[in-house]
Amino acid sequence: MKISEDILYIGVNDRDIDLFEGQYAVPNGMAYNSYLILDEKIAVMDTVDARFTHEWLDNIQFALAPSGRKPDFLVVQHMEPDHSANIARFLETYPHTQVVTSSKALAMMKQFFGKDFSQRAIVVKEGDTLPLGKHTLTFYTAPMVHWPEVLVTYDHADKVLFSADGFGKFGALDAQEDWACEARRYYIGIVGKYGAQVQSLLKKAASLDIEKICPLHGPVLIENLGYYINLYNIWSSYTVESEGVVIAYTSVYGNTKKAVLSLADKLRAGGCPKVVVTDLARCDMAEAVEDAFRYGKLVLATTTYNADIFPFMRDFICRLTERNFQNRTVAFVENGTWAPLAAKVMKELLKDCKNLTYAENIVHIKSALNEESSAQLEALAAELCHEYVEQRSETANKNDLTALFNIGYGLYVVTCNDGKKDNGLIVNTVSQVTNTPNRVAVTINKQNYSHHVIKQTGVMNVNCLSTEAPFQVFETFGFQSGRNADKFANCTPLRSDNGLAFLPRYINSFLSLKVEQYVDLDTHGMFICSITEARVISSAETMTYTYYQNNVKPKPQTEGKKGYVCKICGYVYEGEELPEDFICPLCKHGAADFEPIH
Ligand code: FEO
Repeated sequence: MKISEDILYIGVNDRDIDLFEGQYAVPNGMAYNSYLILDEKIAVMDTVDARFTHEWLDNIQFALAPSGRKPDFLVVQHMEPDHSANIARFLETYPHTQVVTSSKALAMMKQFFGKDFSQRAIVVKEGDTLPLGKHTLTFYTAPMVHWPEVLVTYDHADKVLFSADGFGKFGALDAQEDWACEARRYYIGIVGKYGAQVQSLLKKAASLDIEKICPLHGPVLIENLGYYINLYNIWSSYTVESEGVVIAYTSVYGNTKKAVLSLADKLRAGGCPKVVVTDLARCDMAEAVEDAFRYGKLVLATTTYNADIFPFMRDFICRLTERNFQNRTVAFVENGTWAPLAAKVMKELLKDCKNLTYAENIVHIKSALNEESSAQLEALAAELCHEYVEQRSETANKNDLTALFNIGYGLYVVTCNDGKKDNGLIVNTVSQVTNTPNRVAVTINKQNYSHHVIKQTGVMNVNCLSTEAPFQVFETFGFQSGRNADKFANCTPLRSDNGLAFLPRYINSFLSLKVEQYVDLDTHGMFICSITEARVISSAETMTYTYYQNNVKPKPQTEGKKGYVCKICGYVYEGEELPEDFICPLCKHGAADFEPIH
């Protein structure tokens, strides 16, 4: 087979192998690729598996027969025996050939063959070149893609990248099958742990003009290279490739399986674009691992077993963690007749994985599904399908104004002075609106005394609260009116050049603003301001509304109470119905900011 005018395929197909690397099922066999570059000098790129010595040597002989020439170089990119097993035999067959390889590979040759080939070696490192005549090979190191000694090689003349294990796949070359499916299972299983190293290699490759990729397994890639490179980028960055939910389960007597199948039905009914159900005791584990890395959400369902979890599930999770499983949503279904702890054990096993989002709903089955665990299953399905429901026009709730809470806000104390005393209030509506010149918009409720003062004086300071600010700052400036309270009674302010107060603590910056325009927004007024002074006080992070909600605001005491709780300050209104015109006595927010206590 010709790859180009001067590059010939001299690899072999392995249809006899049962388990590649002693563990991966390869129903369509395996290819061990090797290439020959015919030029003024002749280079052979890698060898093949030990069981194909003669077939491979025959291939070389056949390719060289018309010219009667012999190879000048054996380039060894990778020392795993599926490619390196015939190095010693080759060097015996061609005693004048030099081996071109990395120093690490040379050391490994001694380990594998018990011989020192250094007298016949040309050791290359990053960026070194090997001129063959018309072709010049440039070597790039690719450590841990898939062993530390790996090199990849670029041929400038034909714009070919010899990519070692990269872009390889399971399956003999004559297998009629989808590339991505078996390339993904190969990649995740064999190289999956080394995403960062693959990313580095992809960056190097991006600087090369590549027209063909010649891997050590699977077909030579000659068209639409962007497709393959994009998939490698997705896999090596642990990005979700396909939307959907994988349910990986074990079941001893069928009760967990029953729950899993029910969950799968509910997910499909909820609009989940793809549901993959896999019985870990019976499936190809490598395929299950591949699916977990392919899809965005993973449900793990298993039983408590020997005060641990069922062995197949433990094995599965270990395979995920050792391959740096990350960036996914994970949910748990546990089954236990007494002392159930599977969910806890599974979460503990995943604790070092980066950026996992755990579903809030956990399904606790006690022996078999009952009303309670069925309801949990329903809730989990709804949680996992929420985004699918909301993404589809037909099923979405298009009037969910809680979307407003997801606009990112900072929290600020806006200070002003009515001529007699300093005043300040909490606002979350500060934003820069232009930058040449810099203009800042501050919107304030007309009910607030500060609105009245700023409208009259035309000046204010915006104090950017840092995450160090305690709840007391919000009580002081947010839950009382400056008309009848002295908000600076317990604090001696500092002064900016405009004479207004700025907070001596809990802020990282302040801006002194001069009002240039006023926009009447009915209930609120928007002040568009220029900046007269701007100081950065500390490098502490700005307090966001989300940070305040999660870390500063005391948790409302709602336990055992019926009624409504203020989302702003946590005030609890006890009663069946919240009056529409209700105003929170603490923070003065209206009924819209209350939610029912569940
Ligand atoms: Fe195909 Fe890492 O050997």
